[in-house]
Amino acid sequence: MSQIKILLTINTMDQVREIFQLFNRISRKYDLVNHVLSFGLDVFWRWKACNKLCEYNGDKKVDRFLDVATGTGEIIRLCSKRFNCKFIGLDPAISMLKIAKENLEDAVLLNGTAEKIPLKNNSVDLIFVAFGIRNMEDRMKAFSEFHRVLKKGKYLAVLEFIHREDGGLFYHLSHLYIQKILPYLGGMITGDFKAYKYLASSIDSFISADMLHKEIESCGFKVKYVENLFPTVSIIIGRNEKD
Ligand SMILES: C[S@@+](CC[C@H](N)C(=O)[O-])C[C@H]1O[C@@H](n2cnc3c(N)ncnc32)[C@H](O)[C@@H]1O
Repeated sequence: MSQIKILLTINTMDQVREIFQLFNRISRKYDLVNHVLSFGLDVFWRWKACNKLCEYNGDKKVDRFLDVATGTGEIIRLCSKRFNCKFIGLDPAISMLKIAKENLEDAVLLNGTAEKIPLKNNSVDLIFVAFGIRNMEDRMKAFSEFHRVLKKGKYLAVLEFIHREDGGLFYHLSHLYIQKILPYLGGMITGDFKAYKYLASSIDSFISADMLHKEIESCGFKVKYVENLFPTVSIIIGRNEKD
């Protein structure tokens, strides 16, 4: 059953190219729109997830921190206050990376995808993916890549909009807002209605936190922590259980 869901959520090459172009188009107003449409909650969600990752890492030394789907570099900006290490941001959308470069002084920014990370095996100490996993062409490939480049016993944090079968009234209201109001407001601010329609539908068609948990574990991680930060947003922390 889970296999079918996984295969169905793999995007085609045309969809993939379209997704990269979409982020290139909205890059200049991306952060502003996020803050406006989420009433500033996106900042809180990233901050909360960063704190959790920090807590799990404890006092273990961190040399290299990889932020996958880094976009404009919000996660690196936030986490650089907590970790004194080398930061690497990875993203296929070049216009998003250009803004990240303006925002970040020392980070290394790589143009590439999560499904083929241009880094050596066992070369990073922490991985963060915020609001990026649902856009990926092939999540299982991405999780396997995270498992490959992350050192044994080290942590992966995934922050994402999730689907819930058991959502209460607040979940349904948030869902309604994302489907009906977000595409309209995002389109008004950026002039790109198509992009925000896609973003709303990618949230709508995404899987549950339980499914995500299973996918992460099937790629060699042990999920240590799951929290719903909001009815529609979850954080999952997994530890790399390499032999
Ligand atoms: C919604 S943005 C999130 C950006 C940032 N992490 C944040 O918290 O604001 C999603 C990002 O995922 C990137 N992305 C899309 N497909 C990807 C892939 N296959 N591998 C890595 N990043 C991808 C997009 O280019 C975009 O910058």
